[in-house]
Amino acid sequence: METLSVWRGTAASTGYAMLAGDVTADVLIIGGGITGVTLANLLAEQKTANKPRVVLLEAGEIGCATTGNSTGNLYETVSGGLREIASRWGADVARQVANERRGAVAFIEERCSLLPDVGFRRCPLVQWADAAHAEDIRKEFDALAAAGCAVQRGGAVPAPLPAAEGEVLVLQSQAQFQPQAYLVALARRAAEAGAAIHEHSRVIELDPKARRAVTATGSVTAKEIVMATHTPLGVHLVHTEMPVHREYAIALEWTADAPPGPGTFWWKGAEHLSVRTLEAGGRHFLVCAGQEHKVGIHNAKAGLMALEEQARKHFGGRPVTHRWSAQNYRGADALPYIGRDHSGCFIATGFATDGLTWGTVAARLIAAELLGHEASFAQLVRPGRLSPVKGARNILEENVLVVKQLVKDYLTHRQGEKLSELKAGDSAIVEAEGETFAAWRAPDGELFAVSNVCTHVGCKVHWNSVETTWDCPCHGSRFRPDGTVVEGPAIRPLKRKHAPPLGDGSATA
Ligand SMILES: Cc1cc2nc3c(=O)[nH]c(=O)nc-3n(C[C@H](O)[C@H](O)[C@H](O)COP(=O)(O)OP(=O)(O)OC[C@H]3O[C@@H](n4cnc5c(N)ncnc54)[C@H](O)[C@@H]3O)c2cc1C
Ligand code: FES
Repeated sequence: METLSVWRGTAASTGYAMLAGDVTADVLIIGGGITGVTLANLLAEQKTANKPRVVLLEAGEIGCATTGNSTGNLYETVSGGLREIASRWGADVARQVANERRGAVAFIEERCSLLPDVGFRRCPLVQWADAAHAEDIRKEFDALAAAGCAVQRGGAVPAPLPAAEGEVLVLQSQAQFQPQAYLVALARRAAEAGAAIHEHSRVIELDPKARRAVTATGSVTAKEIVMATHTPLGVHLVHTEMPVHREYAIALEWTADAPPGPGTFWWKGAEHLSVRTLEAGGRHFLVCAGQEHKVGIHNAKAGLMALEEQARKHFGGRPVTHRWSAQNYRGADALPYIGRDHSGCFIATGFATDGLTWGTVAARLIAAELLGHEASFAQLVRPGRLSPVKGARNILEENVLVVKQLVKDYLTHRQGEKLSELKAGDSAIVEAEGETFAAWRAPDGELFAVSNVCTHVGCKVHWNSVETTWDCPCHGSRFRPDGTVVEGPAIRPLKRKHAPPLGDGSATA
């Protein structure tokens, strides 16, 4: 199944050269999502004499991982609810979070005023629920009001959105943009201001102590390294604290005058649904996102199909123009991890599905620290913090899941069809000649066989039928059928294996 987000499908492309040779820099930023590009922009546009020399290395193309596969909504609250932050950390921290995020949205608005049109618009965020979740909305209203957010009770939500069975909560003056268009334009400004940006330059070796990163075509040695990679590369304590989920999104053909009009619409029912509209290149779209699942232990095709079914139920049989999905990492105590960690590098992660704003917050905090004036909010989100009420239950539940996954993988007796029976487009875990293979047969018949042991810390990978990747349930690393890394903390590829003679292996899908 082909997947391409409406954002990547409608934004201009980039075209930065690969890194060539060995270079030095003051700051190396790894990752060209909203965190990395915003940071590059902030540092490169410094007018001071000690303006840092910045190099940004992006594994694929600018925006290709999460930012260009998001839903483009900007808001001062968080999708898990400000009440969760208030209950863990207290009302004052919830207020600080809303203030910091409000400031980041205003910062994006100010940057957008300097860029070509990237679809920025102010609009309300509307939240409502079915009867079973109506109490959550009522409590959220109280938490938002206590945090100083300008929240109001609204009337009915416009059809064809699902009807409200309780209060409707309206947070005025939130925002939306075209995230990929924003990133492309912001990266251009950063490059014009002197940042050296390199695409198709994946870091394949990283030595945090020596502050050196190596790609297939060169290396960068820097005074500081910022891992703006959504989850930090290599082994970090935060990995054990962050559940990893994938969420799906689709765009439907829409019309200019069809409701719901401008706004971010979050419905909480048995299944969560996020809806917004978009105008791009004279075409109109309705974007729906939902069906969140734990990475590596779900049926991706079923998730996407369920979202399409949900959209059909509410919005009729409009043609689906784009399908995509992306990953999110949730901080265990409802806050992200931003700052220098034990590796000596800066990290920025744990954004849940709120990282267009958190990524901007992170870039501003890290830029401030690199330029010698740390902001007080940085203390609250620093990695390795001690939380007043740590998300112990979440961590425990997630770690039990991870351990179960390891045990299941090692103990499952695998039996099934012969490798020779693996059809074009099919995947299987195969045991043959004392070895285990993660095998996939391409549509043209070519067989790819790799180790099924994740190169991060050794969990077993599982097939993702929508994106044709091997996904790791433990900390979210993903690999192509040939073993190369797509995303996640793993740096090294899955080991290529020589397939046994056809017919020798037994397989399970
Ligand atoms: C379906 C979905 C919808 C969402 N919608 C919203 C929303 O409406 N609003 C909101 O605020 N948030 C939303 N989010 C969350 C938000 O999109 C992310 O938190 C945010 O984009 C993260 O930005 P980032 O720059 O940290 O990471 P990314 O955008 O993932 O950028 C990291 C970059 O690092 C690169 N990289 C990784 N490894 C290497 C390496 N070894 N070498 C070089 N480069 C490397 C990657 O290729 C990637 O481009 C959504 C998330 C999902 C899953
Ligand atoms: S991502 Fe950590 S073991 Fe696979």
